[in-house]
Amino acid sequence: MDYIVAIDGPSGSGKSTVASEVASRLGGEVLDTGAMYRAAAWFVLDSGIEPNDVNKVAELLENFEVTVTPAKVTVADTDVTEIIRTPKVTAAASIVAANPAVRKRLRQLQQDWAETRGGGVVEGRDIGTDVFPDARYKFYLTASAEARASRRADETGTTKTQVLPTLQSRDAADKGRQHSPLRKAENAIEVNTTDFTVEQTVEHLLRHIQSETRASDASSLSTSDAPAFSAYDFPAAKHYGRKRSLGNRMFYSFMRRLCLLISGPYLRQRIRNRHHLPATGPVIVAPGGHRSNLDTLLVGMAVGRMSLYMAKDSLFKSRFWSSFMRIFGAFPVARDRLDRRALATAIKVLERGDVLIMFPEGARQEGSKLQPLFDGVAWLSAKTGAPVVPIGIGGSQKVMPIGKIMPRPHRIRMILGEPMPPPETGKSARASRDAFTANLSVKIQALFDEAQQWAGTPNLP
Ligand code: DC
Repeated sequence: MDYIVAIDGPSGSGKSTVASEVASRLGGEVLDTGAMYRAAAWFVLDSGIEPNDVNKVAELLENFEVTVTPAKVTVADTDVTEIIRTPKVTAAASIVAANPAVRKRLRQLQQDWAETRGGGVVEGRDIGTDVFPDARYKFYLTASAEARASRRADETGTTKTQVLPTLQSRDAADKGRQHSPLRKAENAIEVNTTDFTVEQTVEHLLRHIQSETRASDASSLSTSDAPAFSAYDFPAAKHYGRKRSLGNRMFYSFMRRLCLLISGPYLRQRIRNRHHLPATGPVIVAPGGHRSNLDTLLVGMAVGRMSLYMAKDSLFKSRFWSSFMRIFGAFPVARDRLDRRALATAIKVLERGDVLIMFPEGARQEGSKLQPLFDGVAWLSAKTGAPVVPIGIGGSQKVMPIGKIMPRPHRIRMILGEPMPPPETGKSARASRDAFTANLSVKIQALFDEAQQWAGTPNLP
């Protein structure tokens, strides 16, 4: 890794586990700076010094050295891995961490650590604000006090009620101290992990890191230098850049009507707020609750206007399927890498003034809660100025759940939200894309819930 990922947050927010997983997925190393403060506190106690004695502590730790690896913490050949997790050392760490001289020394050690490695994932309280204010990626993890207390209780084999008061007083100490208090860096991405599993949080962070890389790569995007498509030579951007022929449009319209006719008695589709879809001009339609393979078809039928959508490239392996999918507006996107060609195609589609259907959750998911969203929708909207229309789909998993290929009759209900204006570009582009994605997530979750309710399938697992 040749860059720094800073992860800050209060204790129990899941930082340590998330940080080491993110580091291993990015092929880098991780530094737990909390362990350094704990080791310093242990050293103070072991030397018989009162942690509150600011001057003596400062003097003792002036040339303090500590080695922290994920497996072991060592101070001058003493293995302190376990002892630094005891309540006594934990309490002392909180006091020692408020000492400016200690912070200065440990900050130096943390910066040295990153310099020798060229980068890495560093987690703590002041990493994005004071230690590495220029870190390329900054995250601030939070979670409700209850959720954090029960995680700590699980780790330490105690109860939530036992942990909660100490956790709250440590929060207050971390946030209230004069030097480098715990706070979110202005440009850090805040992630509330209360309802996320570790895996979901890790995915969320990695998506941000990858989409940022994608955004900076794509700023030099041009359709001619797009990488060759491996599965089958697909006439991507150029093909979609042209106006659709009359024949193609008539065929599309005919097929849409045919699909409606066939599926009507089965699904009795109903759509609320169709008028939210602008009648002309580019639009990104972002459906919430991608729970069935039928979703694309359903949304396509609902939208009415000719629409195009990204589909995973593995579906384009056969020439027959490729042609078939193309007629209905699908174009391939690689799942495992930055697919500049797919992005270029999406831009062309929007520049031409068509509708692009893009599922912001990425692949199909299960459950009644939306997965963390990719920020591709926000990125494309900012890039092309296309508004985004959120849609909630209800009932599709009942008709054709994951793993099934035969649709069963059941109500399908779709609700369109108001068009969202594109995120702002310019200096704070990233922050406005993040805010846009967060807002989109709230909107499509609400539409998804409402549509599920309407379809009579609320909270279907
Ligand atoms: O994350 P932790 O609970 O292991 O941290 C131990 C103590 O160190 C805690 O009181 C907060 C403090 N700390 C800090 O002040 N700055 C950091 N960068 C990391 C931890």
